[in-house]
Amino acid sequence: MEKNLNHIKSLIENQIARVKKLEEGSQFTDYSKLDKIVIGAIDGDGIGPIIMDSTLKVLNVLLKDDLNTGKIVINRIEGLTIENRIEKMETVPKDVLHEIKSCNILLKGPTTTPGKNDNLPNIESANVTLRRELDLFANVRPVQVPDKNIDWIFFRENTEGEYALGSQGIDIGEGISMDFKVTTDVGTRRIAKAAFEYAKNNGNLKVSIITKANIMKKTDGRFLEVCKEVSSDYPEVPVDDWYVDICAANLINENINKDFKVFLLPNLYGDIITDEAAQMQGGVGTAGSANIGGNYAMFEAIHGSAPRMVQDNIAEYASPESLLKASEMLLRHIGYINKADELSSACEKASTTMKMTGNKNGNTAAEYAACVIENLSI
Ligand code: IPM
Ligand code: MG
Repeated sequence: MEKNLNHIKSLIENQIARVKKLEEGSQFTDYSKLDKIVIGAIDGDGIGPIIMDSTLKVLNVLLKDDLNTGKIVINRIEGLTIENRIEKMETVPKDVLHEIKSCNILLKGPTTTPGKNDNLPNIESANVTLRRELDLFANVRPVQVPDKNIDWIFFRENTEGEYALGSQGIDIGEGISMDFKVTTDVGTRRIAKAAFEYAKNNGNLKVSIITKANIMKKTDGRFLEVCKEVSSDYPEVPVDDWYVDICAANLINENINKDFKVFLLPNLYGDIITDEAAQMQGGVGTAGSANIGGNYAMFEAIHGSAPRMVQDNIAEYASPESLLKASEMLLRHIGYINKADELSSACEKASTTMKMTGNKNGNTAAEYAACVIENLSI
């Protein structure tokens, strides 16, 4: 009992210290002012190196002028594999983290997160560690289904909620376990501001706040309250709020779903709902995701590392679509709008001719990349 109480005490102290630091605020990098932009390309593991290879082939052609002048540098980072992480027993090995922090912006492949039954040491998800270490508080995920008039964008809080202390729950003994969930004013305010700013700058789109505040009264209650407070600074932006269960149902309710535009969600609901939404777009393999903070931004595929594809020797059939989508978002973020548009239209064309099934009856990642390159208008 004493040990658990001390553990809880230290969790609380750490959270108070974290909030103090957050309250100091952070500056946002202005990429247009940099002489040189270093893109860190983190392979990850499983199918990661394969889809990264294909993606970089495309980027090398798309960005060849800026790569030649040295305005853009791509720094490939290979050490974020489950093997290396287990060997060093570090979620993100120190030298890898150092390399990552030396870049201006990051493109990341999938990384394996050991689950309870995987027979692997209990190391934390690399994603979660990186999001926390780089303070990437906004997870932004667009989903479009044009023939159903669906055009959604999700603003998922990315460092708090169930994830803040996800690996620091306790087994009390006597068959009882407890995990902890954290919501803070400062953490909620900044994600809410990001969502409302986006809604305002894109023609006053409706913002839907998603919680389970009828059950998680403290944490989700605070999230809802702070989001509503922020909404009062945006009188032109329509706002409503939903519980996450009925939100999940309404995403597939064709009478209602096209009325949703911008979603604002705490971490775990954002995780779940964005997978559902990505599936409606064509699967998690088709979606990209932006993790945005003050000093750094990281763009990634939202799917996992698919170790089964590697075991079954079909990794080369993995689709690089989500990592290319992430690259497009990265280019937009650094102000390369024309390049982003060009990439997006080439991918769209490639998707009509290529068949990505994730298996031998479909095209390979390399074939997909070659097709995208053919469709670039350079
Ligand atoms: C995601 C993923 C991660 C998450 C996993 C890999 C830790 O599902 O980016 O949505 O839960 O956030
Ligand atoms: Mg997820």
